[in-house]
Amino acid sequence: MKIAMVGAGYVGLVSGACFADFGHEVVCIDKDPEKIARLNAGKMPIFEPGLEELVESNVRGGRLSFSTDLTASLAGACAIFIAVGTPSRRGDGHADLSFVYAVAQEIGPHLEANAVVVTKSTVPVGTGDEVERILRESGVQHRFAVVSNPEFLREGAAIGDFKRPDRIVIGADDEFGRQIMREVYRPLFLNQAPLLFTSRRSAELIKYAANAFLATKIMFINEMADLCEKVGADVQDVSRGIGLDNRIGSKFLHAGPGYGGSCFPKDTLALLKTAEDYDSPTRIVEAVVKANDSRKRAMGRKVIEALGGIDEARGKRAALLGLTFKPNTDDMRDSPSLAIAQTLIDAGVEVTAYDPEGMDLAAPMLPEVGMKPDLYAAVEGADAVVLVTEWDAFRALDFRRIAQTARGKAFIDLRNVYDPAVVRAAGFDYTSIGRA
Ligand code: UDX
Repeated sequence: MKIAMVGAGYVGLVSGACFADFGHEVVCIDKDPEKIARLNAGKMPIFEPGLEELVESNVRGGRLSFSTDLTASLAGACAIFIAVGTPSRRGDGHADLSFVYAVAQEIGPHLEANAVVVTKSTVPVGTGDEVERILRESGVQHRFAVVSNPEFLREGAAIGDFKRPDRIVIGADDEFGRQIMREVYRPLFLNQAPLLFTSRRSAELIKYAANAFLATKIMFINEMADLCEKVGADVQDVSRGIGLDNRIGSKFLHAGPGYGGSCFPKDTLALLKTAEDYDSPTRIVEAVVKANDSRKRAMGRKVIEALGGIDEARGKRAALLGLTFKPNTDDMRDSPSLAIAQTLIDAGVEVTAYDPEGMDLAAPMLPEVGMKPDLYAAVEGADAVVLVTEWDAFRALDFRRIAQTARGKAFIDLRNVYDPAVVRAAGFDYTSIGRA
C-alpha cells in the first residue's frame, strides 16, 4: 500500500517510519527543504530513541522516502495522512488549524479516486468536516473519504507506542474509509491491537478526552502530594495504594513538578476552548490547567525554601539536573524547568544546568542560565542541587562526588527518584514531593 505522510515532524516521522517498517511504501512530505535534505542524509530533526535506525533501515529497504513535492507524492497513494502541527493559536488558546487546512487545499486538486485523507494531527471536533468541505470545494468529484486517526505516541517511547498500541482509534463515517484503514493497520492485527471504529467526531474528541484525563490524573496526585506534605503522609504510598485498584490504575500517578510537553498543555487548553464554544463547560479540566500553571512556579519556590527562604536565597546558586519536560527527548516545550529557572532568577538565585539532550534547545530559552557540559560541572559550587527531569543518568548519582563539588547540602528531588534515607545518609538536606 502506498501512504503519503504530510508533515515530517514528530508524529509524521515516527508514524511514517513505522508504517514503512510494516511493509507499506511511505513517502514523508515536508515543506521545509532543509529538514528533507537532512532526512535524506540520514539526520533526524528530533531526538527519539530508535528512530534513526528505523528510518535508515527502511530507506535502505526502499520503503521510505522523503520529499518536498506534495503533488508528485500523491500519485498512487491510497492513504494521505495529515500530520502537521496544530499549535495553540497566539492569543486565544484555540488550536491553530491553518496548516491542516492549507494541506487540504493543496491536496484537493490532485486527490486520486478512492483515496482516504486521514487527520493524524490533533484537531478539534468538526475539523474533519471542514477538511471534507475544502476537498469538495476544490472540485473533487470522485469517491474519497476523510477519516480521523488520532495518535497516542509518548515522546521517548513513540516507536513502541506505535507498534504495540493499547488501541487504534479510527473515526470514519462511511464503510469505504473504514475498509482502507483496516488495510493500513492490518500488520498490527497479529499483535491483536484493538481497532476501535467510531464516528469521525467521536475520534476527534477521544484524543482530547484522553489527554485531558491523563493530565487530570497527574494533577490529582500532585495535589494529593501537597496534602501529604501537610498531613505527614507519603505520596508514593498513597499513589500505590490507590493505583492497585484496577478501576483507578497505577499509571500517570507519579507526583512531580507538573506536566509539560507538546501535547498536554496545548490540548487541555484547546479542549477548554471547544467546550466554551459549545457552551458546555469542562470545569474539571479548567481547574487542572490552572493548578498545573501555578505548580511550576511553586516548584521554584520550593527550591527557594530549601535555600533558606527568599532573603537567604538571593545570591546563592542552584544547579538544575534535567531541563526537558521528560527524559529521552530534547523537547523543551512547556517544560516545568522554564518556570522553575525563571522563579529562581527572579529571586536573585544564580542558576546553572545540565541536560543530556536538551541543552541546544534550552540555551536560547534560558539565556540567564549557565549551561554546563556535564552534571558535575553544573553542581560545582552549587548551594542547592535540583533534580528536575528523571533522566537515567541522574538515577544513580555519585553523592560523595556531589558533596565534594557542591558548596551547599540542599538536594531537591522533584521526581521522587531517591530513597530519602539514602540521600540523607550521604549528608544532604533532602526535599522531595509529597513525602513529609
Ligand atoms: C502525551 C500522551 O501520553 C500521548 O499519548 C499523547 O499522544 C501526547 O502527549 P508526551 O507528552 O510525550 O505524551 O509525554 P507523557 O509521557 O504523557 O508525559 C507528559 C507529562 O506528564 C510530562 O511532563 C511528564 O513528566 C508528566 N507526568 C507523566 C507526570 O508528571 N506524572 C506521571 O505520572 C506521568
